[in-house]
Amino acid sequence: MLNTRFTAEFGIEHPIVQGGMMWVGRAELAAAVSEGGGLGIITALTQPTPEDLVTEIERCRALTDKPFGVNLTLTLSINQPPYAEYRQAIIDSGVTIVETAGSDPTKHVEHLKEHGIKIIHKCTSVRHALKAQRIGADAVSIDGFEAAGHPGEDDVPGLVLIPACADALDIPFIASGGFADGRGLAAALTLGADGINMGTRFMCTQESPIHERIKQQIVDASELDTQLIFRQLRNTMRTARNSVSEEVVDILGKGGRFKDVKDLVAGSRGRTVYEDGDPEAGIWTVGQSQGLIRDIPPAGELVQRIAAEAEAKLRSLTADIVVDSVPVP
Ligand SMILES: Cc1cc2nc3c(=O)[nH]c(=O)nc-3n(C[C@H](O)[C@H](O)[C@H](O)COP(=O)(O)O)c2cc1C
Repeated sequence: MLNTRFTAEFGIEHPIVQGGMMWVGRAELAAAVSEGGGLGIITALTQPTPEDLVTEIERCRALTDKPFGVNLTLTLSINQPPYAEYRQAIIDSGVTIVETAGSDPTKHVEHLKEHGIKIIHKCTSVRHALKAQRIGADAVSIDGFEAAGHPGEDDVPGLVLIPACADALDIPFIASGGFADGRGLAAALTLGADGINMGTRFMCTQESPIHERIKQQIVDASELDTQLIFRQLRNTMRTARNSVSEEVVDILGKGGRFKDVKDLVAGSRGRTVYEDGDPEAGIWTVGQSQGLIRDIPPAGELVQRIAAEAEAKLRSLTADIVVDSVPVP
C-alpha cells in the first residue's frame, strides 16, 4: 500500500487522481477511477447548466459510494460561465472534494471551505502553489510542462517543478503532467510528491467517453505528436498536433490575433473530435505522456495496476541498490 498524506487526508486508497477534463470528465469515468481506489473527478463545465451538473453528480453517486470530486475551471473568457451557480450546485449536491484550476480561485475557495469542502488547487508554478496554500487550499496539484491542457508559461518540467514544490509547500501536493504508469508514480513519490494526477492516460480507458478512433490514435502516437498553441497570447495550450493546430501556430506566428484563429479553435469543433472520432476536426488537448500509453484498460484496473507497479518498482530499486553497491572487481 502506498499511503501518503494525500491518501490519508482525502480518504482514498491509492495516491492517483483523474484530473478535470473538458468533455471527458463525466460520471462513468470518475466513478470507475474512484471504485478502483483513486480519486475520480467530474468536470463541472462539461455540463451545460448547473442543473445538469447536479444530475451528473447524482449519476456518479449511483455508480460509487467512494469519494469523488468536481473540477471547477476558472477561465478569463469574455462569456463567463455562471460560476456562482455551478459552485452552489456543488455545495447543494454534498460533494466533499473540489479541484479548482485557472485564474484566481480565492472567492471560490473561501465559499467552498465554509461548507467543509476540501480543495485541491491545480496550478503550474511554485508561486501559484504557495498562493493556493496561503488562501486555504488543502492540497495542490502541480502541472509540469509535459501536461495536456494549459501547462503555463514558465516551461518548467516535472523533474524540477516537483522537488521545487516539495521544498516550498507545507500542504500535500500531487504531481501532474507526463504520468502514465507505475514508474512515473514511483518517481513522483521519490521527488517528494504525495501522489499523481493524470489526464491523458485516463482518456485511454474503457469508461472514457471519447470515440474509440481517438483512443487508438493516442495509443499509436508518440511523445513528439503534441503541439503548443497560443504561446503569443500567453495562454499556452498543449494539443494533439494536427492540421488545425499547425494552422493556428502559423497564423499567430505571422502576427495574427485571437480573432483570426477564433473559429479554428472553437470548443464545439474540439467536442466533435471526441464525438465523431475525426482527429482533424478541431483542436483537442493531449499530453506528451501519450508516448507511454499502449492499451485501453478499464479505469479502475489501471489505477490498481499503476499503484502495484509503483510499489514493486520502489521495492525493487531498494533491492537493486544493495546489489549494485557491491563494487565490480
Ligand atoms: C482532454 C483533456 C481535457 C482537459 N480539460 C481540463 C479542464 O477542463 N480543466 C482542468 O483543470 N484541466 C483540464 N485538463 C488537464 C488535466 O486535468 C491534467 O491536469 C493534465 O491532463 C495532466 O497532464 P497529463 O495529460 O500529462 O496527465 C485536461 C486534460 C485533458 C487531456
